[in-house]
Amino acid sequence: MTGGAGFIGSHVADGFRAQGHEVAVVDDLSAGNRANLDPSIKLYERDIRDEALDQVFAEFRPDIVDHHAAQSNVPASVHDPVHDASVNVLGGLNLLRLAARYEVKKFIYISSGGAMYGEPDPNDLPVKETAPVRPLSPYGASKQALEAWLGVYKRTFNVDYTILRYANIYGPRQGIREEGAVVAVFATRMAADQPVTIDGTGQQTRDFVYVGDCVTANVAALERGSGQAFNIGTGQETSIFEMYEAMSEVAGYGQQPTYGPARKGDVVRIVLDPSLAKRELGWQATMPLFDGLKKTYAFFRDQS
Ligand SMILES: NC(=O)c1ccc[n+]([C@@H]2O[C@H](COP(=O)([O-])OP(=O)(O)OC[C@H]3O[C@@H](n4cnc5c(N)ncnc54)[C@H](O)[C@@H]3O)[C@@H](O)[C@H]2O)c1
Repeated sequence: MTGGAGFIGSHVADGFRAQGHEVAVVDDLSAGNRANLDPSIKLYERDIRDEALDQVFAEFRPDIVDHHAAQSNVPASVHDPVHDASVNVLGGLNLLRLAARYEVKKFIYISSGGAMYGEPDPNDLPVKETAPVRPLSPYGASKQALEAWLGVYKRTFNVDYTILRYANIYGPRQGIREEGAVVAVFATRMAADQPVTIDGTGQQTRDFVYVGDCVTANVAALERGSGQAFNIGTGQETSIFEMYEAMSEVAGYGQQPTYGPARKGDVVRIVLDPSLAKRELGWQATMPLFDGLKKTYAFFRDQS
């Protein structure tokens, strides 16, 4: 798998190992951390854009490619959209090309439901996979773009795929610079009893999914969901202020938030409809928000 030294990928790598699969990780450690990876998992410290990745495929001969590596920072994509597209589009395409050459059975691609639907029509909430795709950031566009090539590689080169469009993922090991890292930022600041700033009004909503639920989605995608894209969400809309209050309760934190300017390109309301994933993958999120926040807070408190 790619991006296995990152936040979500490292949990998925652990999950595949726990299922008895042999796992190798390609990660250039540009955002990930070797310490996230179980030492028994082989790490190829490579850039996914590297043509010499051929050697890794020749050596490991994967049955499945699970592609988590990405330039995953939304503001960074606004600042440098060419770099974002280079990693997310050309890097992904390099992997697809190799998946075809080495006759990989399935390519699991991690896309972003939080970024690619943009600002949905409120009447369309929770958004289904059929909702209009109109991202607000270069990151959303680059995540969407690779989906088109997946179709090409399935139709023309017989590479099967499943796309998982994640909502806002939170949990232990999240970097505080990542997309939707609001939970990690709040936990870190509350653990240090520092003031917390909410960007915008706090009434903007998100669909928060615990990282352990991503693991079960990837495990399900090993066998199911051929040629389809699935929202990986809870279907529950939570405002940033509600999340702030829940995390305050978990942390025993008594300070009121301050409010800063809204972030450019931030959507106001988003929540994903996960019913297709339930029907086709047999998957649904199971971690209640409060319990997930407890696990996440404990991790960040122990780090500080
Ligand atoms: N965190 C979220 O809420 C969220 C939401 C939707 C989608 N996603 C997607 O999930 C995936 C994992 O995200 P994450 O939050 O764990 O981010 P992350 O930054 O922790 O993980 C990404 C990993 O990719 C690696 N990487 C980056 N560029 C690379 C390159 N050129 N070559 C090799 N490795 C490279 C990084 O070192 C890192 O380990 C990404 O594809 C991201 O777009 C995340």
